[in-house]
Amino acid sequence: MNICVVGVGYVGLVTGAVFADLGNDVICVDIDEAKIENLNKGIMPIFEPGLKEMVVHNKKDGRLSFTTNLKSGVRESDIIFIGVNTPPKDNGETDLSFVQSVAMGIAEWIDDYKIVVNKSTVPVGTGDLVREIIETNKRKDVDFDVVSNPEFLREGSAIKDTLMPDRIVIGAPSKNVAMKLLELYAVLERPMIITDVHSAEIIKYASNAFLATKISFINMISDLCELANADVNQVAKGMGTDARIGGLFLQPGLGYGGSCFPKDSSSLAHTVRKVGGDSTLLDAVMSINAKRSSQILKKIEKQFASLDGKVFAMLGLAFKPNTDDIRDAKSLEIIESLLKQKAKVRAYDPAAMDKVKKIYPDIVYCQNAYEATEGADAMLLITEWNEFRLLNFEKVLSLMRTPIVFDGRNIYSVRRMKGLGFEYYGMGIGTGE
Ligand code: UDX
Ligand code: UDX
Repeated sequence: MNICVVGVGYVGLVTGAVFADLGNDVICVDIDEAKIENLNKGIMPIFEPGLKEMVVHNKKDGRLSFTTNLKSGVRESDIIFIGVNTPPKDNGETDLSFVQSVAMGIAEWIDDYKIVVNKSTVPVGTGDLVREIIETNKRKDVDFDVVSNPEFLREGSAIKDTLMPDRIVIGAPSKNVAMKLLELYAVLERPMIITDVHSAEIIKYASNAFLATKISFINMISDLCELANADVNQVAKGMGTDARIGGLFLQPGLGYGGSCFPKDSSSLAHTVRKVGGDSTLLDAVMSINAKRSSQILKKIEKQFASLDGKVFAMLGLAFKPNTDDIRDAKSLEIIESLLKQKAKVRAYDPAAMDKVKKIYPDIVYCQNAYEATEGADAMLLITEWNEFRLLNFEKVLSLMRTPIVFDGRNIYSVRRMKGLGFEYYGMGIGTGE
């Protein structure tokens, strides 16, 4: 099929690359000239395992191209995916201006029947809005349809998630239109949910908000465990083995960050209120998450009389492992507070240091975890990259000034760390006193 993907960010670029890899002809369009120029040279705008190889290979074979020219993207395609960013406004509402501007562009260039697909995460009713914009502004009297086909990929495993999604959701105005999308996705052999446009739009937000709820729920239990002298890791295991609950997304700790959960929960809450509903549950989920960094900071502040001049080794900066994304990363909140209290930060992250450097140019960036721990008064584990799981702790012990570990993601075992001679503080683990 001939496909156009507008917006080559995390979602658009991965979607375009995978469609091309499946044999389609894909034109990726973006307004960012530098990004397009780089992609044409094989330079990726993001770090995502396997992406570069897939892009370079499909570009070389002529199935994938990059341009700033929306006209050619629209004219040469049967299906146009909108994958631009949908950032939050200050009140939590989703800013749809980029989606609207792409819809205006499509209206300008559309010259025969096209299917326009909203892949961006957009509030219920956006399909109607896109339809209205194109209908009102189209220059040629041609027909078109608007479909909602939300993306569920996770950063760090985006290619795998796109090739093997748990389900593909297609919200279409008619069976015939749904069939076109079905045809495109059939090769993946995954379960498909065919529904109306509004329901598909809500499925995406409801799924992300539900996962955020699971995380805040276990974090609420985590705080209880600390107060009641229990171990949240054991509680999560005990809960997760109930098939009705499931063990995934019950990892306690610093809470959720990233470009999706924070903005999608607040956008859904905003939509609920806008239509006259009650957003209490979502408000509580967000409020619990907003306090996660202060949970670890409280422990740190309790440990030291003053943080002035104290040195903290910070392991992990990205909002989660296997990505260089720092949007809403907990590391930033923690650095901010430590610096305000005149502490020194020695940070290491395998992928995200360049991005954090732009915000905090004056902290010390290290070559590896060991260098970060040199002379440190405490180590803070913020992002659970695999390479931090099996550190040589004898070496760490010899490098640190005082052997104290604050584990924001509970990746180490209390018993092992204490056995090695560390003072260890996890999240949601009672002290046993
Ligand atoms: C996506 C979106 O689909 C969002 O709705 C979802 O919640 C998260 O994933 P993401 O891929 O993370 O957003 O966005 P980003 O990495 O910022 O990339 C968006 C791209 O769209 C940028 O390259 C930007 O230059 C481009 N863009 C934006 C356009 O091409 N045209 C515009 O009018 C606006
Ligand atoms: C999420 C959704 O999973 C994906 O379906 C959607 O398309 C985009 O948003 P992503 O933000 O890439 O994906 O990462 P995810 O792996 O879901 O993690 C989100 C955040 O939750 C991270 O900060 C992670 O550290 C945190 N998290 C996750 C927990 O704190 N505990 C958990 O048990 C799981």
